Amino acid sequence: MAMIALKVPEIEVRVVDMNRERIEAWNSATLPIYEPGLEEVVGQTRGRNLHFSTDVAGAIKAADMIFVAVNTPTKTYGVGAGRAADLRFIESVARTIAEHANGPKIIVEKSTIPVKTAETIKEILAANARGHHFEVLSNPEFLAEGTAMADLLAPDRVLIGGERTSGGAAAVRVLADIYARWVQRDRIITTNLWSSELSKLVANAFLAQRISSINSVSALCEATGADVDEVAHAIGKDSRIGPKFLKASVGFGGSCFQKDILNLVYLCEHFGLPEVAAYWESVVKMNDWQKRRFTGRIVRSLFNSVADKKIAVLGFAFKKDTNDTRESAAISVCRELLGELAQVVVYDPKVPAEQIRAEVLGRGQENSRLVVASSACEATQGAHALAVVTEWDEFKALDFEAIFAGMQQPAFVFDGRNILDLPKLKAIGFRVCGIGKC
Ligand code: UGA
Repeated sequence: MAMIALKVPEIEVRVVDMNRERIEAWNSATLPIYEPGLEEVVGQTRGRNLHFSTDVAGAIKAADMIFVAVNTPTKTYGVGAGRAADLRFIESVARTIAEHANGPKIIVEKSTIPVKTAETIKEILAANARGHHFEVLSNPEFLAEGTAMADLLAPDRVLIGGERTSGGAAAVRVLADIYARWVQRDRIITTNLWSSELSKLVANAFLAQRISSINSVSALCEATGADVDEVAHAIGKDSRIGPKFLKASVGFGGSCFQKDILNLVYLCEHFGLPEVAAYWESVVKMNDWQKRRFTGRIVRSLFNSVADKKIAVLGFAFKKDTNDTRESAAISVCRELLGELAQVVVYDPKVPAEQIRAEVLGRGQENSRLVVASSACEATQGAHALAVVTEWDEFKALDFEAIFAGMQQPAFVFDGRNILDLPKLKAIGFRVCGIGKC
């Protein structure tokens, strides 16, 4: 919304949420999420044509177009628990829109939701329309956290799904014209509603599949002496494969990949396609295995026991340049190390200590074996091993000679992101392990 406000100054954008605290944060000097470049754009547009408020009803009345961007978490109860998306918030938004609408509106689904949700929205709106006309569009977002502003500025494509009716086509044109203010027309793809919704899930499934594929190969590399970065480089040169998203890691995290794949799995099962469901589910299973494999290697290397040993975990966010920790591999790594009775000291440049403790232990829970440090150096003091879990740039620039001197001997480095110069660390005296190399 900030990017639309920036690029199309004559459009007034109102962002509304029932959560007062969130809205206050958006109106303050410290935005509630960390995203490089976002502060500048909000700084330029807030108070001009970008407004944040809790007046949901007023914003619905004032709007010609309403973007629905509520959470669609995985269901934790009842039918489809653990796989299907929980559409409570979508449904409640549809009801709220129908309740307050005072004229025709274009409703744009921005939340990632399983196919055919637009139909649900349409049904709820139609049943409560009071004579008003609603067009529902699907406009999934493909930005990645950490690079969101650049992705929004120059997207590979913008996808807009709409009904194949004259009203649907007209609504699609209105939205396409907004994006066309800064995105080339040939990058704006229009499809039917269902294709658009499904494309979002499938795009994430394909991306996650590449990571699980290279991670599966990383295990083979460790067993055989190949180097996974060399293999990725060699296969990525094939233009049919391409070089991106081939970085072996401790496992993918984030709020989207696992959730979207499990949604896809649920859909396939629902439509009687168990083989297809099993195929995609294996991407998530491989990722879970990769996370366990990383901790297993730490334990094995430290002479089969980490009990009472201090392990410094560097990085907690699910990737660099974000403070988002949802589904971060660091959560499983810390939990498993605590399960082995290790002393776990975590440092992350952007994630608050409270958030780290809540993710690992559960809100309000305490465990004296989990400590959060305020620098990488502090975290590694007296540690037996350090494990890089997030690829923050600052970890590459650490003074490893000083760190080595402050650690227990023998000192181990487990690089879960393959960002460190392992031969150099070896020369200092560390025992080193990367992913898919050793
Ligand atoms: C992902 C997609 O990349 C976006 O296109 C999509 O819009 C977004 O989900 C979404 O559905 O909202 P995001 O989760 O923000 O974006 O971040 P990614 O850059 O995709 O990284 C996901 C995870 O995969 C991270 O833990 C990252 O470290 C890991 N990863 C990524 C690897 O382990 N190896 C790689 O080569 C690339």
